[in-house]
Amino acid sequence: MTAAPPPGWPLPVAVLDADALEHNVERMARWCRDHGVLLAPHGKTTMAPALFRRQLAAGAWGLTTASVAQARTARAAGARRVLVANLVVDPGDIAWAGAQVDADPEVVVLVYADSTAAVRRLEEVLRARGQQRPLPVLVEVGYTGGRTGCRDVASAVAVARLVRDSPLLRLAGVSGYEGLIARPDPAAEEVAVREFLGTVRQAARALHAAGLFEAAGPDGVLVSAGGSSWFDLVVDVLGAEPVPGARTVLRSGCSLTHDAGTYRRSSPLDGRGTGDDALRQALHVWAHVLSRPEPGLAVAGFGKRHTGTDRGLPVAQLVLDATGAARDVEGAVTVTAVHDQHAVLRVAPEDPLAVGDLLRVGVDHPCTTFDRWRRLPVVRQGRVVEVVETEF
Ligand SMILES: Cc1ncc(COP(=O)(O)O)c(C=O)c1O
Repeated sequence: MTAAPPPGWPLPVAVLDADALEHNVERMARWCRDHGVLLAPHGKTTMAPALFRRQLAAGAWGLTTASVAQARTARAAGARRVLVANLVVDPGDIAWAGAQVDADPEVVVLVYADSTAAVRRLEEVLRARGQQRPLPVLVEVGYTGGRTGCRDVASAVAVARLVRDSPLLRLAGVSGYEGLIARPDPAAEEVAVREFLGTVRQAARALHAAGLFEAAGPDGVLVSAGGSSWFDLVVDVLGAEPVPGARTVLRSGCSLTHDAGTYRRSSPLDGRGTGDDALRQALHVWAHVLSRPEPGLAVAGFGKRHTGTDRGLPVAQLVLDATGAARDVEGAVTVTAVHDQHAVLRVAPEDPLAVGDLLRVGVDHPCTTFDRWRRLPVVRQGRVVEVVETEF
């Protein structure tokens, strides 16, 4: 972890730790190999082509994106397989996906369908542009009260039939996302996640049993699920081959940098695992302590402009004082509020935290921290070895 802010960079600054990044890319790739599953890391986490290239070089099967605009960045970074984990309804976007597939038989751009309307819209645009090769489509399975996706297996089969019957489309598999399932009790959450993943598996089996996968093509059938919290359960429930000839594709994005909050607690390669060879926190923000206006209070020079707060507040971890001495402050200094440009910290009145000290915080949720930065220094042993640019 970065033990000091990068020399010469104005504060606050978000910093990537070179060793932790390398470790996480390799660790996730190894986990997937060991479990026989493919990885298409979600690119929306970083939107950083330099990091996309590292993930692909480490053996990622492809990249996931949330939109066609992001898919363009993924393609430009060299991804030959892009899983657009979303419905695509904009005519220009559909036409772009179709053109990618037509231009190169090796290129795979997958999109979702969860309704007759979505399928018809894809067909309309592809027909109008004179699509030559069928566009691969994953039928999305969702759950009541959730986001997009067919609400039951019967509707997934109905949508899959429409896709299979279309000369402009290719039924490539099934997809679902368990990462938004939340319950106050962690055990109940795990049960709900398992149940939903069971529905994804049932849908894949129903499509297989109905013979709908028979023309799936060179990439075979894909069954995709898995953010960065529950990928172990995905493998547990779906296995490496959910139906004969199919491959499981994980889409974990946040595992690249890991974090100091949600994923630290929920990752099977950290909080829910043994901690053995755990993922490492690779993303931190450094800022100055600006003020100690009351004995038990301090204010630091970073805020919502610099870290995500959608999942939880940043975690104060390390302080460097005026002499350069480092002190672990986790638990002793707590971020209690974050404004646009300021963070309010609670400290013991006798704590030596002083104006001008340097504070390192860990973030809770990397996705909403990356998008606040256009350039992030990558630091190894106190030196900036690379500057990563984002394209949000
Ligand atoms: C559809 C979908 N798949 C995969 C992911 C990646 O999950 P995570 O951010 O936990 O890595 C997300 C994240 O929001 C998502 O929405």
